[in-house]
Amino acid sequence: MFSSGTKSVVVILSVSNKYGLVPFARKLQGLGYTLVASGGTAKELREEEIPVKDVSDITGAPEMLGGRVKTLHPAVHAGILSRKTDSDQADMKRMNYDMVSMVVCNLYPFSETVAKPDCNIANAVENIDIGGVTLLRAAAKNHERTSEDLRKKLALKAFTHTSEYDTNIVDYFRKQYSPNEAQISLRYGMNPHQAPAQIFTRLEKLPIKVINGQPGFINLLDALNGWQLVKELKEALDLPAAASFKHCSPAGAAVYRRMSDPELKAAMVDDFGDGLSPIATAYARARGADRMSSFGDFIALSDPCDEVTAEVISREVSDGIICPAVSAGALLHLKKKKGGKYVILEVDPEYVPSPIERREIFGLTMEQKRNDFKVTPDLFKNIVSEEKWFPDFALRDMTIATIALKYTQSNSVVYAKNGQVIGIGAGQQSRIHCTRLAGDKVDNWYLRHHPNITAWKFKKGVKRAEKSNAIDNYVLGTVGKDMDNATFESFFAGPPPAPLSEQEKIDFLYTLHGVSVASDAFFPFRDNVDRAVLSGAKFISAPGGSNNDQSVIDAANHHKLTLIHHNTRLFHH
Ligand SMILES: *[C@@H]1O[C@H](CO)[C@@H](O)[C@H](O)[C@H]1NC(C)=O
Ligand SMILES: *[C@@H]1O[C@H](CO)[C@@H](O)[C@H](O)[C@H]1NC(C)=O
Repeated sequence: MFSSGTKSVVVILSVSNKYGLVPFARKLQGLGYTLVASGGTAKELREEEIPVKDVSDITGAPEMLGGRVKTLHPAVHAGILSRKTDSDQADMKRMNYDMVSMVVCNLYPFSETVAKPDCNIANAVENIDIGGVTLLRAAAKNHERTSEDLRKKLALKAFTHTSEYDTNIVDYFRKQYSPNEAQISLRYGMNPHQAPAQIFTRLEKLPIKVINGQPGFINLLDALNGWQLVKELKEALDLPAAASFKHCSPAGAAVYRRMSDPELKAAMVDDFGDGLSPIATAYARARGADRMSSFGDFIALSDPCDEVTAEVISREVSDGIICPAVSAGALLHLKKKKGGKYVILEVDPEYVPSPIERREIFGLTMEQKRNDFKVTPDLFKNIVSEEKWFPDFALRDMTIATIALKYTQSNSVVYAKNGQVIGIGAGQQSRIHCTRLAGDKVDNWYLRHHPNITAWKFKKGVKRAEKSNAIDNYVLGTVGKDMDNATFESFFAGPPPAPLSEQEKIDFLYTLHGVSVASDAFFPFRDNVDRAVLSGAKFISAPGGSNNDQSVIDAANHHKLTLIHHNTRLFHH
């Protein structure tokens, strides 16, 4: 590390790793520099008969505390930090110090030490470099005396190195002194072979607390996305909200709205009758949107989990839950799940993340401002179709669909009705595939409310997931194909239900109305509108800005639906 001006010729050397030291020092000596080195470094140079002074020769203070204090002295640091100003030079002259023109330094091997299996805290502490970090920072701070590029590059390198060094020290002590508070060790990363894995914060403690189980990496992706979604839903609509997440996208999301009998049956919670609390109802709706996709979900609740919600959850296959609190009664139910391993996370509802977020990919760090865009009714003011009808229920459903998009892998299109998501097309590279996929899910969701299906009587002992699979195959007409007839028949005591005819399906789907549809980016072609209408769309909102906006507006006018354009793209990855 260079640090100084033209006349000074002193170089300070203090290296822990001595690889390459001797030839470098010999070169410096040949160029006429005076070498000053700390204990071990000086010893190595003397063994090679390179003339060198001890640091104590210029400080007048011997190394002490077993080497903890060697270079921390004004004679060293004034030498490095002094500038060519009259006042600095007067100070140097008064103290009879020499300016230092170069610092050669590397640090105690902290990371290597703590990586050893038998490392204890005392070993770690002894390997925290203090003097070396100070030498590097001082030299880097005083890099500006000339405009040489090399000095600038070395200054940046030194600051980067000391900051990384401190990061490693912090990581070690966080694990030692604040496990399960500022840091949680995870079961594993994205896959079982990706261990170790952890989540941590630079704050004093994480805003989440593990009440039960050990979360994995994807659990936390789902939990943190899901929590943001329900928190924003509740803020926007002032109603308890729930989400059911799988693989970083919601399978369902809903706010509280009383459920009709067919809704209770289709969501498989009719046995609770009127016993569902508002937050339990929100979850039953969220889980009922796409029961197949919600299998093994991570649940997010805007409100504390009460006992009846826990009862609903305890019958379903689920991986974990995040919510502001869990009641004692609820905890008893949830702790029994998954052989005691059900993941329960409590989140601090007051936590507000910093406005800048980072993520590492392929060893490189990407940084951006968080997507803190708030979905408010103002977003839906610009109606561009001839039809202007946009009632309160549509505003509610459009708000739900749009907030859900914000936390769904792009591209995405979401259909909503009755205060809940009813179909999501997530993670497709083309918009029409999102619109079709979400529309097909809507059709499937709606057909599950068909009176012929809600009247089914399953044999005792048939599992909930098996019922969901049977209904799904029946609705899709894949009984005898994806699900063999014998399996299907085995679910019923009497003769199995005959397949619905295409006409029966069409007649029933025809009764689906008033659906709100939101898209995370503009519709490039009118086919999206034409498809959405087939699944009951009456209200559509999307960012404008496509070359084809007019043809999309024409499609809306043709179908007599309300089309809203806004200017906020909501991609999420
Ligand atoms: C399965 O059952 C359906 C009627 O429900 C029938 O049309 C079909 O032929 C059966 N398939 C087989 C392989 O038996
Ligand atoms: C559905 O129910 C209606 C009314 O009970 C009945 O007429 C029809 O045959 C049923 N459809 C099937 C496929 O069982």
